[in-house]
Amino acid sequence: MMDEFSLLLPRRVYAGFSSLSHIDGIIKETGAPKVAIFTDKGIEKAGLVDIVLKNILVEYRIFDDLPAEPTYLEAQALVDEAGAYGADLIIAVGGGSVMDTAKLASLLQGGQIRVKDLLDSPLIAKKRVRTLMIPTTAGTGAEATLNAIVAVPEQKLKVGIVNPEMMSDYVILDPEMIRKLPMKISASTGVDALCHAIECYTGNKANYFSDIFALEALSLIMNNIEKAVKDPDAMDAKVKMQIASFYAGIAITSSGTTAVHALSYPLGGRYHIAHGVSNAILLVPVMKFNEDAISSRLASGYDRCYGHSDLSEREKSKAMIERMEEIVKSLEIPSNLATFNVGLGDLDDLVEAGMKVTRLLNNNMKTVTKEDARRIYSQILC
Ligand SMILES: NC(=O)c1ccc[n+]([C@@H]2O[C@H](COP(=O)([O-])OP(=O)(O)OC[C@H]3O[C@@H](n4cnc5c(N)ncnc54)[C@H](O)[C@@H]3O)[C@@H](O)[C@H]2O)c1
Ligand SMILES: [Zn+2]
Repeated sequence: MMDEFSLLLPRRVYAGFSSLSHIDGIIKETGAPKVAIFTDKGIEKAGLVDIVLKNILVEYRIFDDLPAEPTYLEAQALVDEAGAYGADLIIAVGGGSVMDTAKLASLLQGGQIRVKDLLDSPLIAKKRVRTLMIPTTAGTGAEATLNAIVAVPEQKLKVGIVNPEMMSDYVILDPEMIRKLPMKISASTGVDALCHAIECYTGNKANYFSDIFALEALSLIMNNIEKAVKDPDAMDAKVKMQIASFYAGIAITSSGTTAVHALSYPLGGRYHIAHGVSNAILLVPVMKFNEDAISSRLASGYDRCYGHSDLSEREKSKAMIERMEEIVKSLEIPSNLATFNVGLGDLDDLVEAGMKVTRLLNNNMKTVTKEDARRIYSQILC
């Protein structure tokens, strides 16, 4: 029997070419006399902030002092800086790192609560400032989720802060933002979205709502990711990846990610491996581990992606995993930890840290024991 399930969505979403032109209308709708623009230096360098600024006709200030995948203290520093400015609307122009920090700022601006407090008690804060998310990767889907993920160096882990108040108010998915996304970032963020879709569809919190979004995302990604990443002119495939990432984000909000993301958190927290890369490394080993428990779902995913065929359920589920393996390989994302200086000596720490991510491990259809986690990590060490 399925537990209760729900759907929470951003208030308004604009998508497609020229959708950035709605920024002015959104600012007017919120009545904001001044806005804070959250971004990072890489995005500014790519000229994306300039494109957004053309649509901002009120007072604004840019807050860009943010590294990729920030620690909670680095996120706090930007929250404090923006808090002193006191904007009435926060616009995030960036990938998951920027959007997550903007989401935290929307709860904490001008208040007494710190990011650190939310690590233990995520629900104590309420929204204080509205947000507009303009993703520049495709992607984390952070524009549609209730999560903000920060690194916690003391625990050598990444921690997801979950609070429904962080749901964005407005989202703009303009393909202009991802047109020149560098191949390496496009590949790893695209596989992150693939993980969101397949984990949400095969997890034990999957439900009627999340299935709609997870399955559509899965099909869009499996059929477009390689073209979108490799062909700079394939705007149609890139747009599909942008929509798919957003759908996969909605699926996360209604269902949840599972053991791929759980075991990936220590790789980000300890070894600073990019989120999409660590998920890509774990995707196939975790799917193989789960296969006997999720083969009917992998098979229906296969049907949705490639049409019905005469293959048996087992053959389809196997083919689905093989296809994922091919995708990771063809996008030239590392498939193990060899290049990251992680060795056998790290195994105990990895297992211990991974097993702490119970919030996500509990969503996995098959129970992951300490021995299972050790086996999975061992496979990706070589
Ligand atoms: N909140 C959620 O639901 C959620 C879901 C998944 C991941 N995350 C988190 O999001 C973070 C990762 O986000 P990400 O994968 O989007 O990458 P990112 O935001 O960390 O950005 C990575 C790099 O790409 C650059 N970049 C981004 N867009 C660009 C563009 N269009 N052109 C050129 N350069 C660009 C940035 O400057 C940065 O240097 C991690 O901290 C991860 O844990 C959050
Ligand atoms: Zn992710």
